[in-house]
Amino acid sequence: MTEILARNAPQTVRRSRPESVLIETYGCQMNLYDSGVLEALLRNRGFEMTRDHAAADVIVLNTCAIREHAESRVIGRLGELSKYRRDNPDLRFAVIGCMAQNLGEAIPRQAPYVDYVLGPDQFYRLPEYLARDPESFPVINLERGTFDYERVLPVNENPWINFVTISRGCDNICAYCVVPRTRGHQRNRPPEEIVAEVQGLARQGTVEVMLLGQNVNTWVHRGQRFDDLIGRVSRTDIQRVRFMTSHPKDMTPDIVARLASYPKLCEHFHLPIQSGSSQVLSRMRRQYTRRHYLELVESVRRHFPHASITTDIIVGFCGETEAEFEETLSAVDESQFDSAFMFNYSVRPGTFAAEHLPDDVPESTKQARLSRLIELQQRQAEENNRRLVGQTLEVLVDGPSRRDPERFKGKTRTNKTVVLDGQTDLLGRLVQVRITQTDAWTLHGTLL
Ligand code: SAH
Ligand code: SF4
Ligand code: F3S
Repeated sequence: MTEILARNAPQTVRRSRPESVLIETYGCQMNLYDSGVLEALLRNRGFEMTRDHAAADVIVLNTCAIREHAESRVIGRLGELSKYRRDNPDLRFAVIGCMAQNLGEAIPRQAPYVDYVLGPDQFYRLPEYLARDPESFPVINLERGTFDYERVLPVNENPWINFVTISRGCDNICAYCVVPRTRGHQRNRPPEEIVAEVQGLARQGTVEVMLLGQNVNTWVHRGQRFDDLIGRVSRTDIQRVRFMTSHPKDMTPDIVARLASYPKLCEHFHLPIQSGSSQVLSRMRRQYTRRHYLELVESVRRHFPHASITTDIIVGFCGETEAEFEETLSAVDESQFDSAFMFNYSVRPGTFAAEHLPDDVPESTKQARLSRLIELQQRQAEENNRRLVGQTLEVLVDGPSRRDPERFKGKTRTNKTVVLDGQTDLLGRLVQVRITQTDAWTLHGTLL
């Protein structure tokens, strides 16, 4: 922490009413969705949004706790941002989301200028709290809740693509993972609510929705299953549907087969393998084997021949031997992933692994293994992409290219980025693009 600008003792209230809010979002898509909901709720209550820290009356950090680094980054960021308090003593800080839940009152203890600490089940109360000052700060609310906020359509920076959360929390027991602690048990949103939200977004111009959950395939509601939900969402005016994340133990071959009957469903599946060794998977308490995973990949490829499959991998989990790591390399080789998020194992206090399994793979070994894995994965992604040269793909054009603002970028059904030339009237449209050139991350193409 850089500097302490307020005392930790509860402050008495003598602040002007806040009007403009700035939200910074860290972590996964679920946090992006929650920030979008919060923004909509704030706007409904008459707050304005700003991107200028110096002009903000409230700075909100929507945070992640998945690895140690995610948390230390936010602590560092809070220290940096505390300087704005100097010019504006009325400035309020809110820390919401997974790290808020995980660290609770330890946050204002470290950063005494933090006024609100709200967990992932309570963040939506922020507008209410801002409208009516409490007796004293900080306000800490980490209770589990039911999300009884008014119906709003989440705001997304990119209006063509939106997220829709279908379930919150997670009932799995992965030994390394903090999410069940931060987000609690799985709670499924009713299908009527999900469908109404998707339809509302489609009416506003959203072309593609990604349905979100930590484990979407176990979504159920009064006898309806996940694939029934995909069917219902497909019958709205939305043009593309995708989902994330599937747990390999719950993405069964019959679900895969049934999903193949929905043409709006995009051929992209995020199937986190975590490790290619059955022994490591068992220590991770992932509840599937290497063989089950590889068969799942095969079944996806059988039903969706043009599918892209992406994954998450943890390197250097407790007790991982060289031979076990090599099984991960060979599983990656067999699976031909289009992209992968790859991480060194990071101990999360309170998890099963933190309490029962020693973190015994040296940092240097983790780093060396991660580098080998990344190299293999990139080579593979490049090869996969090279095979697309000459093909015509459907692209949703969704903004200017990051590298070259004169050009446009878009997304294929397989979730790959394509850079192309064109005019602004292409924005938000589904177009056919012939792929001319590729690398590991991006495709380049010409509009047909
Ligand atoms: N629900 C999703 C994952 C959510 S977390 C699933 O089941 O796959 C996103 C990814 O972060 C995980 O897939 C995992 O690869 C990684 N991760 C989670 N906990 C971790 C930890 N303690 N150390 C390193 N990576 C971790
Ligand atoms: Fe974490 Fe496992 Fe749940 Fe994913 S499925 S959020 S890795 S506990
Ligand atoms: Fe997402 Fe991070 Fe929470 S990955 S669920 S924001 S711990």
